[in-house]
Amino acid sequence: MRALVLGGTGFIGPPMVEYLLDRGHAVTIFNRGRTNTDLFPQVEKLTGDRNDDLEALKGRTWDVVFDNHATLPRWVRQTAELLRGSVGRYVHVSTISVYAQPEYTLPDGRSAEPGWNEEEKLRLDEDAPLAEMPDDWDGSEQITGLTYGPFKWMAEAEAEKAFPGRTTVVRPGLIVGPGDPSDRFTYWPVRIDRGGEVLVPGTGGDSVQFIDARDLTRFIVDLAENDVSGVFNATGPESRLSMEELVHGIRAVTTGPIGFTWVPADFLEEQGVEPWSHMPVWIPGDPISYVRVDRAIEQGLRFRPLADTARDTIEWHATRPEEQRSRLRSGLSPEREMEVLEAWHSR
Ligand SMILES: NC(=O)c1ccc[n+]([C@@H]2O[C@H](COP(=O)([O-])OP(=O)(O)OC[C@H]3O[C@@H](n4cnc5c(N)ncnc54)[C@H](OP(=O)(O)O)[C@@H]3O)[C@@H](O)[C@H]2O)c1
Repeated sequence: MRALVLGGTGFIGPPMVEYLLDRGHAVTIFNRGRTNTDLFPQVEKLTGDRNDDLEALKGRTWDVVFDNHATLPRWVRQTAELLRGSVGRYVHVSTISVYAQPEYTLPDGRSAEPGWNEEEKLRLDEDAPLAEMPDDWDGSEQITGLTYGPFKWMAEAEAEKAFPGRTTVVRPGLIVGPGDPSDRFTYWPVRIDRGGEVLVPGTGGDSVQFIDARDLTRFIVDLAENDVSGVFNATGPESRLSMEELVHGIRAVTTGPIGFTWVPADFLEEQGVEPWSHMPVWIPGDPISYVRVDRAIEQGLRFRPLADTARDTIEWHATRPEEQRSRLRSGLSPEREMEVLEAWHSR
């Protein structure tokens, strides 16, 4: 294939470009030429800006475009309109955040963490209702926690409008592994590798989902190679994984002495320790943690073992600049973790 990658040098771009090259495809990347500019000297690089400069894309033809990085519907509208006559397929990387996330409530109105059976009923498939724009949305392009999901499905619709029947939409869950700038998954392998007493949230039974960027990008490229249209959730692993299994799975690739202290969700809440930002990957009881991926698996999505992702993440982390290693962007600082553990033990 002659492949155009919009983006290409951030997080999912590099493993995607590597896999495309491994598969023998001709790759062009389009970005502003600011991020990781030393990557892929052998690849054609076009410079422009999704905001206001698409000149470099004009008058060229490709078999497929991978739109990796677009959140704003306008970005997709403009590239899709420009490329509709000169590109065979539009592949848009979206997100499972497009779904409306119903609160799980018990019959008496209290919210609760669903058990496994309830989870089955709640699992979001590709036809689940989409999140609506908040009522007070002012029409601006500001990306917030509430506008991100709606913008992403609007962007999907722009691609499908310009490339009817020739669009592939992939909705990943949390993307993890080497190269992740967010530290959301990285926190756990790094913390567990450090050893000692590790604060872990909840009861251990909560579901977690994520996908290694290398598995994701391989799946995306395979869909394009096989000329597959449609919408696909893409997160993992293949069967339910609990928070307890996650941390013990990571522990299996580390060697230091370690103990896990499980601290209940309500105590963490009292301490101001929040799911997701302070305790990454963990969003207890949220249907976004048990999204259905049968369609993608049927279409060839495969997952590497957790141990591979954990070990590779630890190794990659060791190569990062000191300021990134010493202050992770997600999770608790060592001092804060110790404070919360002390509060828990002396309650
Ligand atoms: N991270 C997650 O857990 C998660 C979960 C679900 C879905 N997603 C989705 O997954 C995708 C991740 O994309 P990625 O960033 O990793 O892709 P990527 O292919 O690595 O692209 C990032 C690139 O976009 C370029 N870029 C940024 N602003 C630009 C602009 N104005 N004009 C042209 N190029 C621009 C940057 O290069 P320059 O700086 O050189 O321009 C950078 O190389 C996103 O669509 C996100 O919504 C992420």
